[in-house]
Amino acid sequence: MTLKIAVLPGDGIGTEIVTQAIAVLDALSLPLEYGHAPVGGAAYEAHGHPLPESTLEVCRKADAILFGAVGDWKYDSLERKLRPEQAILGLRKQFGLFANFRPAILYPELANASSLKPEVVAGLDILIIRELTGDIYFGQPRGRRESPDGEFAGAPEAFDTMRYSRPEVERIAHVAFGAARKRGKRLTSVDKANVLETFQFWKDIMIEVSAQYPDVALDHMYVDNAAMQLVKAPKKFDVIVTGNMFGDILSDEAAMLTGSIGMLPSASLNARNFGLYEPSHGSAPDIAGKGVANPLATILSAAMMLRYTFNRPDAADTIESAVKSVLAQGLRTADIFEAGTTKVGTAEMGAAVVSAIKAGKTIS
Ligand code: IPM
Ligand code: MN
Repeated sequence: MTLKIAVLPGDGIGTEIVTQAIAVLDALSLPLEYGHAPVGGAAYEAHGHPLPESTLEVCRKADAILFGAVGDWKYDSLERKLRPEQAILGLRKQFGLFANFRPAILYPELANASSLKPEVVAGLDILIIRELTGDIYFGQPRGRRESPDGEFAGAPEAFDTMRYSRPEVERIAHVAFGAARKRGKRLTSVDKANVLETFQFWKDIMIEVSAQYPDVALDHMYVDNAAMQLVKAPKKFDVIVTGNMFGDILSDEAAMLTGSIGMLPSASLNARNFGLYEPSHGSAPDIAGKGVANPLATILSAAMMLRYTFNRPDAADTIESAVKSVLAQGLRTADIFEAGTTKVGTAEMGAAVVSAIKAGKTIS
């Protein structure tokens, strides 16, 4: 069976890093087929829209999307619906990619890259599961109007709507309990139930669903406390599940515990395991085209694709071991470089992963 991948490099460093991930995938000798399409600012330039119908069509024909990054300051003045970020929001909504997996793993070789003391972060391995298609990101109504009441009645105001429906919370709960069951069997649901009705509802449903997973220990934490605990004692966490906006914020925080956001992959899945795989970092227009970006987050995202959508954990393991081996060899891109290691560029890093795969066992 051919595994069909829609390749959407996007903007900034997107093309450079995705090229290396494809080279790594190709080194596995799997039956892969690629469809390429522009997205974000690149698509706006080519088609006048960040997520044109032609790009959606390429994605619909695929089993998974390999996504680079979108965004550039030069599009900041465009109206919101034409900005590059709308492409990723649109893809999430169009394909129902409600379950976002953002692992934060500290590789032992990079212990000094973290801004926290090595003893606080050594061995860190947490998984943030962020709900991705609901919450205040997509809730309606939203807009601007004349304030209808209160102290500032009549003044211009803006508003968004935070909301979750029961099925939306239930399905992310099942994903999270299922993932926790496969790891350390501990799940922390992060909410703001002390203030927000939406998150009291969220918490109630988490407790309800937990009855079906007696082997997983569930606890609850307010988001402000979770933000604090992540820097105080991050290793206490195993799996965190939270809503769209809290997950956006906490996953950036967790990513930085590992020293470099350039190392972290992510997966966004729907109910039929169709997935969008992208590095957790952005398009970094400041270093675009210089050949210095770290391709490992994208390469590791390709590994997640093999694991979650293509059900090839063996191939995913091959990539992940190859990445560990290049780190053990001392190869570092600029973002993780330190004295005593060897600085390499984007293409050299990709090539080193390919060589490590070829030197290791071949998979079939
Ligand atoms: C992310 C990004 C996006 C988000 C932006 C680019 C819309 O920050 O994937 O975390 O807020 O979800
Ligand atoms: Mn974010």
